[in-house]
Amino acid sequence: MRKNIVLIGFMGTGKTSIGKLLAAKLGCAFIDLDHKIEADNNMKIPEIFQKYGEAHFRELEKQAVKEAVERHGIVIATGGGTIKDKENMRLLKQSGVVICLTADIDEILLRTENKGDRPVLDAKDKAHGDRRAAIEKLLEERQIFYDQADYKVDTTNWSPMQIIGDILRYADTSH
Ligand code: S3P
Repeated sequence: MRKNIVLIGFMGTGKTSIGKLLAAKLGCAFIDLDHKIEADNNMKIPEIFQKYGEAHFRELEKQAVKEAVERHGIVIATGGGTIKDKENMRLLKQSGVVICLTADIDEILLRTENKGDRPVLDAKDKAHGDRRAAIEKLLEERQIFYDQADYKVDTTNWSPMQIIGDILRYADTSH
């Protein structure tokens, strides 16, 4: 049974774009949990948060994880908060190798500057009145979860091909 490659990491670390390229390179299927939730519910994530709240989104996310880990030999990109749930993390780890993508704060700030796309960051930003402080606070809160990854790749200065090469080298040796 072939292991999955699971990408975790903070918002703006490139999980979706790297996941897509990685799956194309491997010639395997790609599941982006956020996109799956949006497609299954015919609604964008900010709309789900606005209409039903974060707790409901997290339930949908748990369901999406359960469905994704039933498949094998695929690439899965998670949302930034997916791994805060212990059971999600357990299932994802059990299904394959878990890679955490990271990036410098400045880079994350740049990649997530659009307001309206990421309700968790927008809410924290509003509470702190400062987007950088909001990112720092969320990163601090989540560090213990991201630290549970099998391997970390810093995406700040590397090209997508370098990042994919690094992930594949690790995944090959860990099989
Ligand atoms: C979230 C990150 C988002 C999305 C949702 C919540 C978070 O995914 O799942 O808005 O709590 O960090 P990305 O990491 O792909 O932006």
